[in-house]
Amino acid sequence: MTWRTKPLSLILETAEKRGLKRQLGAFDLTMLGIGAVIGTGIFVLTAVAANKAGPGMMWSFVIAAVVCLLTALIYAEIASMVPVSGSAYTYTYAVLGEVVAWMVGWALILEYAVAAGAVAVGWSGYINGFLQSIGHALPVALTAGPADTVTLADGTKAAGAFNLLAFLVSVFVTGILVVGTSHSARFTAVLVLVKVIALTVFIVIALPAVNAVHFEPMLPNGWGTPLSGTGVLGAAASIFFAYVGFDAVSTAAEETRNPNRNIPIGLIGSLIVCTVFYLLVAYAATGAVGAQPGGALSESKEPLAFVLRELGWPQVGNWVAAAAIVALPSVVLMMMFGQTRILFTMARDGLMPARFAKVHPRFHTPHVVTLVTGVVVALFAGVFPVGALADISNSGTLFAFFVVALGVMILRRTQPDHPRVFRTPLLSIVGPLAMAGCLLLFVSLGAYTIKLFFLWAIAGLVIYWLYGRRHSHLANGTH
Ligand code: ALA
Repeated sequence: MTWRTKPLSLILETAEKRGLKRQLGAFDLTMLGIGAVIGTGIFVLTAVAANKAGPGMMWSFVIAAVVCLLTALIYAEIASMVPVSGSAYTYTYAVLGEVVAWMVGWALILEYAVAAGAVAVGWSGYINGFLQSIGHALPVALTAGPADTVTLADGTKAAGAFNLLAFLVSVFVTGILVVGTSHSARFTAVLVLVKVIALTVFIVIALPAVNAVHFEPMLPNGWGTPLSGTGVLGAAASIFFAYVGFDAVSTAAEETRNPNRNIPIGLIGSLIVCTVFYLLVAYAATGAVGAQPGGALSESKEPLAFVLRELGWPQVGNWVAAAAIVALPSVVLMMMFGQTRILFTMARDGLMPARFAKVHPRFHTPHVVTLVTGVVVALFAGVFPVGALADISNSGTLFAFFVVALGVMILRRTQPDHPRVFRTPLLSIVGPLAMAGCLLLFVSLGAYTIKLFFLWAIAGLVIYWLYGRRHSHLANGTH
């Protein structure tokens, strides 16, 4: 019985009944997409990728981009068919049934909430660097979580206790989300501009400095083997995080005007823009200063600013760092926005407590679920290191992408006549390729991350068995 599916017509009807306000257009969505995508990945994890792959990290950026572009083409079809909040979770409910949908929703908590925490921690690295440079550094114990270490000026390492600023930025973003989507979207658009300008300046300065010697040796750690978490594939599995977020566009479907047209534009458009920037940045950074594992770039907490300083543009490097400080909170915002809309939808289906589906009478936002998400994200951010959070987030995202690709292929067979405003081109090739890509990146995450993912999945199944299975509106006929 837990394999019950929720018919498409019913999903659309439920959404109509308890609507959020439709106020976002194609431009807003593309902005939301870019706002969600460009963040800690390019600004911070570029160093992690260099450490794993060396100059070969350029291939890592390409591999992760290909997997995401294939997935975006698939998301665009399903998101335009089922334009309701909840993204991969909702689509899976329609195609593969409740228990798989629950598992996807459960994995999306990794994707969104854990990612929000990761970005908050990435941001804290930049802001702590800034405070230090103006002589107002926080005590070291308050600059990193207990599982993290901080490298001091003399090169020694000290343990963290609680990452205070990562915690506080999460609380701040929660407040903004409670007050309203439309304000948040406008706020995001301005910050997107800041990020795009910062990356453009970086490319303009670093590209002419590219020197062929910096690409040798190209693959110091080889291509990487499954579970090793290193080499080009290991780096691709981590840098995949840099592209995550474009699917957040689809979580705003119920708040979008003309979603059938605007959602595909927002999804694919935002990802293409980001991919172009990333490939240029990765090539320019590697070619300008080198990217060998253990080298200066791979050790830097602010790799882009580091490159500019190395090239003799320290002031511009500081401005790029400032852009990251100003703009990364918008990524935390988008990740949390996606998370709240997914939990909201799961609650509306009875799989999460009904209180999560409450909409604030004045702000028209799901305030209860936003506050709950905010507390969890803030605690993640306060406690864990950025690299671990990013990898864990990727495991959940890759699982969700895999299931969505499978679902869209099944839906083409089971409902061939349902109107599709956007049809994924060559789905019989794109679908299996996307699934294979997700699988490849998943097994390229380290063994530790994969183990955590499976523990999380088992916990999810137990919770579903104890709660969701009985409270499901579909099971009880109370949708
Ligand atoms: N793609 C987002 C980032 O890199 C999550 O921060």
